[in-house]
Amino acid sequence: MAGAIYRKPIMFAIVSAIVILIGTAVTMFIPMLTPQMHPKLENLKPFTTLQLAGRDIYQREGCNNCHTQTVRPLKTEVMRYGEYSKAGEFAYDHPFLWGSKRTGPDLARIGGKYPDMWHYKHFADPRAFFAESNMPSYGWLKGRSLDPKDIKSHMDALDFPYSAEEITGLSGKDEMDALVAYMQVIGIAVTKTAAAEVKPRVKAEEAENPLAGDPKAIELGEELYEANCEMCHGEDGKGDIGPSLADNIFLYEEDDLADDDYFEIINNGTSEGMVEEGRTAKGGMPSFSDQMQKNEIWSVISYIRTLQKK
Ligand code: HEC
Ligand code: HEC
Repeated sequence: MAGAIYRKPIMFAIVSAIVILIGTAVTMFIPMLTPQMHPKLENLKPFTTLQLAGRDIYQREGCNNCHTQTVRPLKTEVMRYGEYSKAGEFAYDHPFLWGSKRTGPDLARIGGKYPDMWHYKHFADPRAFFAESNMPSYGWLKGRSLDPKDIKSHMDALDFPYSAEEITGLSGKDEMDALVAYMQVIGIAVTKTAAAEVKPRVKAEEAENPLAGDPKAIELGEELYEANCEMCHGEDGKGDIGPSLADNIFLYEEDDLADDDYFEIINNGTSEGMVEEGRTAKGGMPSFSDQMQKNEIWSVISYIRTLQKK
């Protein structure tokens, strides 16, 4: 009797299609509707109006044609960008902006990596930071005011409930402000510890600069300074986005730091709340351990010391 169905090919096709569909529904669609499939990270917050407006600009300008927003769980990626991406991070991202092409670096952990000022200047002129950059300049976003009406319709489409004040609060901000606000919120719901575990903070081996006063080192240090530090610390270390290196305030307190503290700050970078010699950092100084050899870091320090004598 059971064999009869095998002699009715059309019936057999229909019955097997139904059985396969039931299987698909049970194993695929039902789990898709359960809350566990839509995790939200505990400290993930919905975008503010300004951040959402920035996200719209990111999409409009096609930034995701050159930038991804997802770190894969591979050691090399985690070392370069930080903790790999978690499903829960994207709960408010409609649509996802993961992208698939990295002409520029991944941006999944860009939030908090640099101070706001860095982004304003970099968007205005990427070549001022990296001579070879092929990223377009976005200086023209400055002064283009945001249209609250336009943003309201985007919010309605996304079902984000914002109050009238939150929307009118956007007046006075321009597209550049929005894009920078968006940059600073990407990826911050995940703690940054993972990158630190892969790449532990390194202590200086020498207490004093072995290349102090060496004219060759000072020359090399000047070159390195101009290529890597000047965009933030200004010409002659007078300060700009980052603090002055030529004054007597270091990490917001009076009095110089020792050579090995300089080394550690340059090699490891700083993060908010990090303590160096009893002084609390605010963050924003990138790590140079991947770009610079030890002797290069010491050379930059030799050069900075000459600026301080001026
Ligand atoms: C033609 C490709 C291209 C486009 C389009 C592009 N970028 Fe870039 N971007 C790059 C490259 C290359 C770099 C690395 C050099 C540099 O920093 O200028 C970069 C660097 C960056 C950085 C610094 C990343 C880091 O970790 O140092 C940010 C932030 C950034 N881009 C944001 C954007 C945003 C936002 C847009 C859209 C408004 C955009 N980019 C459009 C190519 C692009
Ligand atoms: C993206 C911008 C940026 C770049 C590039 C940068 N710095 Fe910094 N730097 C900062 C910021 C911001 C601080 C303040 C750190 C904090 O509060 O955590 C800082 C702090 C420092 C300090 C502590 C001194 C003080 O006055 O507080 C030293 C030393 C320093 N940087 C050296 C360098 C050197 C050398 C380079 C180049 C190899 C460099 N920095 C590149 C942004 C930058």
